[in-house]
Amino acid sequence: MDRLQELHHKADALEEQMSRQLDALAVKSIIYVSGDVDPVRERPVPDNPEGRPFLMGPDPRLQPMPAKPTLIDYFRYRFGPSAHLLQSARLALRAGHDEKIVLACLLHDISVLGFIRADHGFWGAQLIEPYVDPEVAWAVRQHQVVRFYPDESVGYEYPEAYVRFFGADYRPDPHIDRAYQAARNHKWYMSARLVTINDLYSFDPDVVVELDEFTDIIGRNFRQPEEGLGFDDSPSAHMWRTIMMPTRFL
Ligand SMILES: [Fe+2]
Ligand SMILES: [Fe+2]
Repeated sequence: MDRLQELHHKADALEEQMSRQLDALAVKSIIYVSGDVDPVRERPVPDNPEGRPFLMGPDPRLQPMPAKPTLIDYFRYRFGPSAHLLQSARLALRAGHDEKIVLACLLHDISVLGFIRADHGFWGAQLIEPYVDPEVAWAVRQHQVVRFYPDESVGYEYPEAYVRFFGADYRPDPHIDRAYQAARNHKWYMSARLVTINDLYSFDPDVVVELDEFTDIIGRNFRQPEEGLGFDDSPSAHMWRTIMMPTRFL
């Protein structure tokens, strides 16, 4: 067994041990594990000799969320480290862009940080759509698309990092190509482009930006629901609830 396998086994054993200590049985959604396991095969029934009920609420292994969570609470308690988003937003702010653009930069990768990585622009846009100006959600959705295409008029080149990430031969799928053609001719094209411009050059491990810097911009541009994000019956409330309680059985 190599070192990595050994670590995986240790992590699995620890996870197993932690989940055994719960009063309820937490089961991972198939999307957590698909790839590591083949979803069409039968999954082993989790070990449950005590006959615990399935978990139908918050996962006690995660930090508790307030009864009426705000966007900032999700940043604090459910999203991964957000330096990349904070640095992008600060860059946009310092460049003098509109608050809508700053907010789009602040939120553009929340799906990667807290929900689903694949198609992250689309998921991210859906998450925020009920709460922000339509232009902000549009820019978040399309940043994922336009970032694969250079725009010399604003000095945006194909990210050098992508050659490393995806190989020199990588070409976006046809549906991304179509989405780009449509975005290119859209009145908000430049908003998505600005997200990619402020995204690309923003990561610096030595720069520390606090979320507090954006409290006012969030307050003015993100319609925080009174009932709490996830409990407000908006078209994406269920997505926020899933982020809040990702291991609920149903
Ligand atoms: Fe992104
Ligand atoms: Fe990004």
